[in-house]
Amino acid sequence: MPPTDNALILELKNIHAVYGKKIHALKGVNLKIHTGEIVALIGSNGAGKTTLLKTISGVLPAEQGDILFKGRAIQNIKPHEIACLGIAHVPEGRKIFPRLTVLENLEMGAFSRVDAGGIERDLRHAFELFPILKERRGQLGGTLSGGEQQMLAMARALMMKPELLMLDEPSMGLAPVITDKIFEIIAAINKEGKTVFLVEQNARRALSVASRAYVLETGQIVSEDNAQNLLNDPKVQEAYLGV
Ligand SMILES: Nc1ncnc2c1ncn2[C@@H]1O[C@H](COP(=O)(O)OP(=O)(O)OP(=O)(O)O)[C@@H](O)[C@H]1O
Ligand SMILES: [Mg+2]
Repeated sequence: MPPTDNALILELKNIHAVYGKKIHALKGVNLKIHTGEIVALIGSNGAGKTTLLKTISGVLPAEQGDILFKGRAIQNIKPHEIACLGIAHVPEGRKIFPRLTVLENLEMGAFSRVDAGGIERDLRHAFELFPILKERRGQLGGTLSGGEQQMLAMARALMMKPELLMLDEPSMGLAPVITDKIFEIIAAINKEGKTVFLVEQNARRALSVASRAYVLETGQIVSEDNAQNLLNDPKVQEAYLGV
């Protein structure tokens, strides 16, 4: 979905991130996401995609630079506070709670909320978006298939009622038919008005659902454009689309 308005929901200015003293994983990243967009971030193994999401959600403090969420600087705020402000991060590898049931996982997503009626409504809506989770609501998270765990991780994030949903490699390790389903749901979530920041190695899929995208190489944005232009860009085709 193209931006419904020009309001910036997230802006990164000159973001640097380091691991220890030696690994300079992000080297001055600038990036903008408008309300209502799906923005994709593509890049190879080790480019810094996960690091960028961790830096936004506060798990890894930015070494330098500004992160503005709806105009407010959040780079020095703790992860749970950033989550409460409205940024939900579905991490690489899903990280659901394997020993909790599907329903308990979803309730954990809503832990910081106090609007019982709203929680109930959002739970019903999560089960509409992911009917398989309704069927499996009493089952332990760890017994779900990879695709179902991805759905649970996304549904759990939605239970936070975020304004910005960040997904790290949602298609990783999934069969193509399950990946199709996941991407359909991402598009549906966006149609309902949710802003999505999508990190993917599967560049073709990511560019097919996104309106705009950024290309990250060794910690730096090397290209940004609307998704269609990137799909047609010979350099992107060669490096990321296997053309
Ligand atoms: N916990 C860590 N400690 C030290 N170095 C790390 C750590 N996590 C990542 N790195 C390094 O930081 C760089 C960026 O890694 P990151 O995981 O952000 O890449 P990525 O683009 O998400 O890769 P992938 O596609 O494999 O998920 C890499 O050089 C990686 O080795
Ligand atoms: Mg990663």
